Amino acid sequence: MKMSEEKPSETPRASLLERAAGRLDQAVPAKPAAPRPTVTPAAAAPAPAPRAPAPAASAAAAPAPQVQPQPQFATPETPVVHLPADDSNRISRRGVIDLAELRDLGYVVPDAPATATAEEFRIVKRQLLINAMARGENEIRNGNLILVCSAQPNEGKTFCATNLALSIASERDLTVLLVDADFAKPEILSTLGLEGGKGLIDVIADPTLDLSDCLIRTNIENLSVLPAGRQHNLTTELLASERMGDMVEEIAKRYSDRIVIFDSPPALASSAASVLAMHVGQVMFVVEAENTRETELRDGLSMMNGCEHVQILLNKVRYAGVGRRFGTYYGYGS
Ligand SMILES: Nc1ncnc2c1ncn2[C@@H]1O[C@H](COP(=O)(O)OP(=O)(O)O)[C@@H](O)[C@H]1O
Ligand SMILES: [Mg+2]
Repeated sequence: MKMSEEKPSETPRASLLERAAGRLDQAVPAKPAAPRPTVTPAAAAPAPAPRAPAPAASAAAAPAPQVQPQPQFATPETPVVHLPADDSNRISRRGVIDLAELRDLGYVVPDAPATATAEEFRIVKRQLLINAMARGENEIRNGNLILVCSAQPNEGKTFCATNLALSIASERDLTVLLVDADFAKPEILSTLGLEGGKGLIDVIADPTLDLSDCLIRTNIENLSVLPAGRQHNLTTELLASERMGDMVEEIAKRYSDRIVIFDSPPALASSAASVLAMHVGQVMFVVEAENTRETELRDGLSMMNGCEHVQILLNKVRYAGVGRRFGTYYGYGS
């Protein structure tokens, strides 16, 4: 990992990130003490064969959403979600992940032989875990809640959120909850090969429904999944925006002993992303190398303004050299 620096760029890729990160202070009406995002180059594995139906692998093909989302806040009328304090024995759903298939698709699988992707996510998760575990004066509120976001669709949010969760689950003493918060395009279940069912949006929509009824415990011992839930009608965005904050705070209270990873909707396509950012302790903002535009990065990061701990992950990097996978980037500016 490397903190971004305001140095003149020497390569086009570094230029995008460095200049964008360097302008954050001007582009984003940031909180005064908010640290500049950390830039983490990672996840350069060759594209795995997607499960059917194949999602578009290239963000270049994705239309740029014109939506200008505005954060929405919970109103006093918003019903608060009340949850029991302990649900450890209440998780009723179980799902079996086909580990061999997942590995063949390029994902990090616990106990599998080391791969380049596994090594990259070991590096990526390190700082996130340090922040999550920090105590005393360095403690971060809700630091164990990590939002994986990006500006646009197809930049790698689900790929990175899933791999991050799998990588953390391989740490024997940590428990992970992977939450699919991309209601419009939920892909966690299909990525892991799990059956559908009720999920986060259902709990948000129906206060009588309990969160633990929606959790899926998997055959990866330390990994549970909270699906996005059933597709609702046009109220989805509204619900997500108005009650999402309460819900995330409840998850934080209830699962304070585990790492919770949220697979976010795109920051520039859903107001839910900025609402989520207000409640999590950390954001991992995915940038698709050679594709995410500087304006998108800047606008996307501005939507993450509610979180003080934002790291940028450079995804889908293509390395020209051999041997050192991070060589190209780390060589920059040194
Ligand atoms: N680092 C990577 N290496 C290989 N394939 C990737 C990588 N990041 C993303 N992909 C692939 O790109 C496509 C879009 O990624 P996805 O995570 O679904 O994007 P998003 O969730 O941002 O919409 C998927 O087919 C995914 O498997
Ligand atoms: Mg996704």
